[in-house]
Amino acid sequence: MTTAVYPGSFDPITLGHLDVARRARGLFDEVILAVGANSSKSHLFDSRQRLDLARLAGVGGLRAEPMDGLLVDFCAEHGAAAIVKGLRGGADFDVEQPMALMNRHLSGVETVFLLADPALAHVASSLVKDVARHAGRIDDLVPAHVAAALASRAAPASTPAPTKEI
Ligand code: PNS
Repeated sequence: MTTAVYPGSFDPITLGHLDVARRARGLFDEVILAVGANSSKSHLFDSRQRLDLARLAGVGGLRAEPMDGLLVDFCAEHGAAAIVKGLRGGADFDVEQPMALMNRHLSGVETVFLLADPALAHVASSLVKDVARHAGRIDDLVPAHVAAALASRAAPASTPAPTKEI
């Protein structure tokens, strides 16, 4: 049985992530979505919320687990032979190449890159969050429960009624 790990911060999970996960599932016996933290990003959703949103997205035959430490340690603990990453373009490759080489240096684990579906190549969590923050339409970019979670985060705090000094 060949297991692969699909890691990410998934802040939040998008239809682009789900497409990569579904296609990876066709290549490996088991795919584990590893929900970690990216130390170079600040996250909108905390680690529990990101994990719950990923689990609720429910790709068939795929489970989501929290990842706290090194990705290579997570792979070893789960007996994974490969890491899966999606590539939307050259900018993604520039970020992913050193990580793939570092992970192979650390443990020998290989990274398999899947090219994003061109129809989803513009879908990035960061852009989705920005569109949602400005009340733009995101219902065709993320699952419905993620759109609802983003809408609730973007809702303006209720303004207290002005008080009148007597
Ligand atoms: O979706 P992201 O933000 O690109 O995911 C990045 C993530 C979480 C996969 C990466 O930061 C990671 O692997 N973190 C675990 C810690 C680790 O192994 N760091 C060394 C990477 S070479």
